Amino acid sequence: MKKLAILGASGHGKVVADLALTCGWSAVSFFDDAWPDIVRNGAWDVVGDSGSLIKNISDYAGVIVAIGECTIRLAKQTQLAQENGRLVTIIHPTASISPYATIGAGVVIMAGVVISVDTSIGDASIINSGAIVEHDCVLGNAVHIAPGAVLSGNVTVGDRSWIGVGAIARQGARIGAGVTVGAGAVVLDQVRDGLTVVGCPAIPYSKK
Ligand SMILES: CC(C)(COP(=O)(O)OP(=O)(O)OC[C@H]1O[C@@H](n2cnc3c(N)ncnc32)[C@H](O)[C@@H]1OP(=O)(O)O)[C@@H](O)C(=O)NCCC(=O)NCCS
Repeated sequence: MKKLAILGASGHGKVVADLALTCGWSAVSFFDDAWPDIVRNGAWDVVGDSGSLIKNISDYAGVIVAIGECTIRLAKQTQLAQENGRLVTIIHPTASISPYATIGAGVVIMAGVVISVDTSIGDASIINSGAIVEHDCVLGNAVHIAPGAVLSGNVTVGDRSWIGVGAIARQGARIGAGVTVGAGAVVLDQVRDGLTVVGCPAIPYSKK
């Protein structure tokens, strides 16, 4: 039996569980630090917290972190790797991935994604449903490209950045680390580390 442990009993976690079963895993178990307050995530049981996952990590043929927040996801993945967890990358069968692309460890790639030639995707990243990452893009670790976002050719995205649903980056755009690109934004040039940008063209956002 090919059992997968998923850390993070969230909505995103359910998507990862569904994806894993589509991709040939025979069973999934959730772990979450909110356990035992949370014992169920959709169709699946939450069987313990991250401590119990670490204690039983050799029981699982694979582990993956399904936590949406990019910094926490990367930290948890690093910890599980240090504990000899077998990190897996899961790719939906309808995704089109160039054989000349490089995909890191602990990455999930959802249905309908396109990843083009000479693009690299860092560890612990999420490429969500229907996103397009064109040729020669370089994505750091723990990046999240939300559903339907489009990165044109030669775009760079720094570690832990979140590109919102339906956002677009023009070719050659340079998006820093720890950036949030708002839903539907259009990034034309450069976004400095740590900024949130919204709109078309995307500009820094500050709450009123
Ligand atoms: C940019 C973002 C992070 C801001 O979040 P927030 O601080 O909670 O923002 P709020 O909803 O409180 O909105 C604050 C203001 O910004 C505006 N705003 C928020 N998001 C915006 C966006 N994407 N584009 C343009 N304006 C936006 C709101 O209209 C509001 O304007 P107002 O003050 O004039 O009423 C968020 O709205 C966003 O776009 N997140 C991405 C969501 C996503 O992609 N989810 C995918 C999950 S897989």
